[in-house]
Amino acid sequence: SLASQIGDYKFDNLLLNAAGIRCATTEELDKILDSDAGGCVTKSATPEPRKGNESPRMKATSMGCINSMGLPNHGLDYYLKFAEANQGKNGKQVILSIAGLSIDQNIEMLKKIQASSFAGLTELNLSCPNIAGKSQVGYDFEAVRDVLTSAFSFFKKPLGLKLPPYFDFNQFDGIAEVLNDFPVTYINVINSIGNGLVVDPETESVVIKPKGGFGGLGGDYVKPTALANVRALRQRLRPEISIIGTGGIKSGKDVFEHVLCGANLVQIGTAFGFDGTPIFERISKELTAIMEKKGYKTLDEFRGKLKTI
Ligand code: DHB
Repeated sequence: SLASQIGDYKFDNLLLNAAGIRCATTEELDKILDSDAGGCVTKSATPEPRKGNESPRMKATSMGCINSMGLPNHGLDYYLKFAEANQGKNGKQVILSIAGLSIDQNIEMLKKIQASSFAGLTELNLSCPNIAGKSQVGYDFEAVRDVLTSAFSFFKKPLGLKLPPYFDFNQFDGIAEVLNDFPVTYINVINSIGNGLVVDPETESVVIKPKGGFGGLGGDYVKPTALANVRALRQRLRPEISIIGTGGIKSGKDVFEHVLCGANLVQIGTAFGFDGTPIFERISKELTAIMEKKGYKTLDEFRGKLKTI
């Protein structure tokens, strides 16, 4: 069985899309809910609709992709309506992702969600790297503490956090110390590695237009960083805080590695962008084959059990 759980929420399959990839319209979200995925995550919403950054704003490479989308989305009302109508249908979860451009915008959106009939998981994205002039909140631990203090003063529904990748043990310790002070339901690591630069030597140019070519990296580039963040934060967070592993997943083997590091669920971004919804069936089959070969019947039997040497 590939069943798993986050807080009180049950998923028949641990695979989900990652926020941002093929999930901006209700048509795309319906397709994910009709696939083998355990549920869907909506494109990170802002209070009002946004067109996002100038194109070209995403470029595939042989190892993954670079993007600077700039939060193009249909606005919170659009995704909240979809989430209210579809969460829990056919046993599938809808995770509602929000990414305000300020603390005030995040609080405003959480108030709307609190007042709504939506009873699922909300994912507060503290790690968008692609808005010129705005830094990633997840790297400022006091700002994270401030937004969580405000949020949990009124928000009583289950809340997850999408975090940026951390690269130093001081950062793992510092963010865990903040998160352990709050009733966070889950964290999702990692968002893209922010502000990478892909260079085309042929044209002697950058490959995307916004921000002089700098953008978030996904795909093969990020898997070891993602595994490190899942593992390091699993070792530091209260056991009640679940972890969604995201980063570099394109096969059943990659999912197996994320679960070994401690992931309860996983999300697929770049590879879902390349392959579309058939990827959920393929990876489910690949993971099931690995588990059968090893004699594992459930994810619990190996979750977090990574060995050291
Ligand atoms: C975008 C990219 C991200 O990595 C993110 O977390 C949110 C938004 C974007 O550019 O749209």
